[in-house]
Amino acid sequence: MRQTHPLLSLISLCILITIWQVDTAGSMVGAPQWSGRRKNEKTIPAKKLATIFPKAKKFVTKNVALTPEKVASIEKEIGAKLGSKDLKPTFYIALNEDKKPMGLVLFVTVKGPNGAIDGGVGLDMNGKIIKVEVYKHKEASGIAGEKFLKQFIGKGIEDKFLVGEDVKSIAGQQKASQAVTLIPKKMLAMSYALFLKKPETTVAEDEPYDLTELMQLMQGDYDIIRDYFQTEENKEPAVEAAKQLGEYVKLIGDFEPSKNAEQRDEYTYFQQKVHSALQQFAVALEKEGISDHTKEQWQDILDLVNKAHLRFSDRSIDLDED
Ligand code: HEM
Repeated sequence: MRQTHPLLSLISLCILITIWQVDTAGSMVGAPQWSGRRKNEKTIPAKKLATIFPKAKKFVTKNVALTPEKVASIEKEIGAKLGSKDLKPTFYIALNEDKKPMGLVLFVTVKGPNGAIDGGVGLDMNGKIIKVEVYKHKEASGIAGEKFLKQFIGKGIEDKFLVGEDVKSIAGQQKASQAVTLIPKKMLAMSYALFLKKPETTVAEDEPYDLTELMQLMQGDYDIIRDYFQTEENKEPAVEAAKQLGEYVKLIGDFEPSKNAEQRDEYTYFQQKVHSALQQFAVALEKEGISDHTKEQWQDILDLVNKAHLRFSDRSIDLDED
């Protein structure tokens, strides 16, 4: 298991956006509702941007040129050659009404078995994919369908993007499916090679080495769920985070708590209770999104976690601290 700490992606992305906002080379482009302006529409894919980030109020463009070293590292990462269009990509940053960045968009072309496939990808502030779209292609229609494309939502740089492994192919369209899969994979590789620092604290292949590290990983998933309840955006990453939290909680018993370690039964009780509550919560969240029921479940989980922390940690823990 290779785990990327989402907070680190978030921090890097925030830094990147700050740099962009002071960079005079970046320019503000029309808000989705201005897309009627003909002149803009020619140069700025306003409608496509609005489909990817419907709640964005504005987009900032950023044109970048790739150095040969970056090209080489991206090609290595994605296992494919970049096309000529990829060498000077235009990124779009989605801004909300408070001018806060919501994420990035990049339009990407890949080679399918029958010719070029044009697509677009939206990445949120946690470095997770929120949307993949396919616009023009000469393959079977399924590869542009929502059913196929929605499986990319919630994936990030740590995912494999391999048809037959973490991506389900369209029946009989293995090659075209793999070609489309390259669209989000390329977008992620380019975003990370250009702007986003790959986290240094990856848990490579194995488990966290102590309880503090495990808890820090859990905090990353906690933040994703909390943000979802606050913004009501990005349900899929929140569902994934809830499932991942449930998995992490299973590991708690492997480590000795810093306080009351002799109260093993009680410690295991909290661990099991939080684990099963998170499992139920993940299922409900997937079905219902934000509802009175899921809000209540989440609050119950937080109450249990607070109790566990008071009982077993020798310092006070505020999950909402930055
Ligand atoms: C949603 C679930 C949870 C989250 C997000 C969470 C998060 C955290 C965080 C952020 C810390 C502080 C880590 C640091 O010092 O940097 C922490 C510490 C700790 N947590 Fe949790 N926690 C969760 C559930 C639990 C549960 C269920 C237990 C016990 C059954 C537990 C036991 C502890 C203990 C003992 C510490 C102190 C670790 C140490 O001494 O380093 N936590 N937790």
